[in-house]
Amino acid sequence: MRYHLASFGCQMNDHDSERMKGLLEGLGYSEVGDRDAADLILFNTCTIRGSADERFLGNLGDAKRVKRERPEAIVAVGGCWAQSQKEAVFRDFPFVDIAFGPGEVSRLGELVARERIEAVGAFSFDGAFSGSLPSKRERPHQAWVQISVGCNCVCAYCIVPSVRGRERSRPLADVVAEIEALAADGVVEVTLLGQNVNSYGRDLPREERATFAELLRAVAGVAGIGRVRYTSPHPKDMKADVIAAMAECPEVCEHLHLPAQSGSTRILKAMRRTYSRERYLDLVTRLREAIPDLSLTSDIIVGFPGETEADFAETLSLVEEVGYDGVYTFLYSPRPGTEAAAELPDDVPPEVKRERIARLVETVQRVAAGRAARFVGSTREVLVEGPSRTDPTRLRGRLSQNIAVNFTGSAAPGTIARVTIERATSTTLSGRQVGAPVQADLVRS
Ligand code: 5AD
Ligand code: SF4
Repeated sequence: MRYHLASFGCQMNDHDSERMKGLLEGLGYSEVGDRDAADLILFNTCTIRGSADERFLGNLGDAKRVKRERPEAIVAVGGCWAQSQKEAVFRDFPFVDIAFGPGEVSRLGELVARERIEAVGAFSFDGAFSGSLPSKRERPHQAWVQISVGCNCVCAYCIVPSVRGRERSRPLADVVAEIEALAADGVVEVTLLGQNVNSYGRDLPREERATFAELLRAVAGVAGIGRVRYTSPHPKDMKADVIAAMAECPEVCEHLHLPAQSGSTRILKAMRRTYSRERYLDLVTRLREAIPDLSLTSDIIVGFPGETEADFAETLSLVEEVGYDGVYTFLYSPRPGTEAAAELPDDVPPEVKRERIARLVETVQRVAAGRAARFVGSTREVLVEGPSRTDPTRLRGRLSQNIAVNFTGSAAPGTIARVTIERATSTTLSGRQVGAPVQADLVRS
C-alpha cells in the first residue's frame, strides 16, 4: 500500500508530517511521489490566514479527481485547517474520508484502519485475511488483527453493508495462530477489528463455529499477550457471555467502544439500530456491574434526518448518563447507496448541525474531564509506548482504560510501568513512575 503526503504550512506542520509518515510506514504503507499511484492521499494543512490557500485547494481538487477515478483511494486531511473546518470539510469536500486535527495525529493509524475496513476492496478478504494486513506495525508492541469483514446490520446511514457485503469471519484457529506469531515477534497488545466484532463467528461452518466470547478467551490465553482490545461491537450483540469474558480475563482491557449513534429512541429506530435508549442504558448498567472500572467511548451522529431539538437533547443527556470517557462525533451526511440517502431528506440545516455538534463536543469534554479526574491520586498500570510527544524527556503510554498518560520515568516501550497519576485533562493524564516496570504479559491486575 502506498501513500502520498503533501504538507502545507509551517515548521510545526513539517514535524507533524514526519510523525504521520512514521505512523503510516508502521502500518505498512510506503511513500509514493505520484498521487495517482497512492492508496492513501494525505494532506497536512495549515491555516495561518484563517482560510486555506489556493495551492492547497488546487491540490485538494486534484484528490477529488483521483477519488472519482479510483473510489477505493482514501483521502485524509489533517492539521490546523482540518481542525478549524472540521464539519465543513465533509460538507464542502464530500470526497474526503478522514479529517483530523493537529492533536489527533496519533489517531491517524486508527482512522486509516477503520476507513480501510470500510473501503471497497482495500482488504481483499477472499484471498486471505492476513496476507493483506499491514506487514509493518504502527508500534512494535501493538498490533491490529482483523477477525471479520462485512456487516449484516442495516443501519440506515451506513455504507458498509452495501460495499463490504455480508459478514465473513476468520476461523478462530487462524486468528489465534496469527496472534501467536505476533506475540513471538514481541507484540504484547492486540486489537481485534471488525465492523461488528461481537457478532463474530455465526457464519463459520459448523465444525469451526465459535462465538466472540470464545475468541476473546482464546486470544487472552495466548502466551505473551498482556492486553486485548476490540472495536467496534454493536450494542445488540453485547451478550452476557461477552461481558463475562471481559470481566473474567484480566488481559481484556477495561475499555469498550460502544457506539450509541443517538440518545433518542425515535432516531435510533429511524437509524435501524434495533435498540432503544433504555436498552442501551440497561446494557451500560450491566457492563459496569461486571467491570466496575470500565471506560466507555462512543460514536455519535448529529443531524440524522428528522432529528429535532428534543431528540438532540436526549443525545446530550445520554452522554451525561453514560458518563463517556470520550466520543467520536460525526455530522450526518447522506452516503449514496444507503437507505437514509435514498429515502430520508437531509433536513437538518447545516448551521443547526454545526451548532449541535459544538454543544455535543462541549458536553463530551466536560463529562470526559470529570471522568478522567477519578484517576488522579491513584497508581495505575501503564503500557509504555515510547517517548512523550510534547516532551521527549518523558514517556507516554496507555491505561487499560485506553486513556493516554504522559509520565516521568524510565520504563522501556512494551513494558508495564506503575504510574501515580497527578493531573488529568479530558483526554490525557500526567504522572510519575513508581517502582520497576514489569513484563506486560505478567501483569494480572
Ligand atoms: N454520516 C455521518 N456519520 C456516519 N457514520 C457512518 N456513516 C455515517 C454517515 N452517513 C459514523 C458512525 C459510525 C462511524 C464509524 O462513522 O457513527 O459508527
Ligand atoms: Fe454495520 Fe456498524 Fe454500519 Fe451499522 S454502522 S451497518 S453495525 S458497520
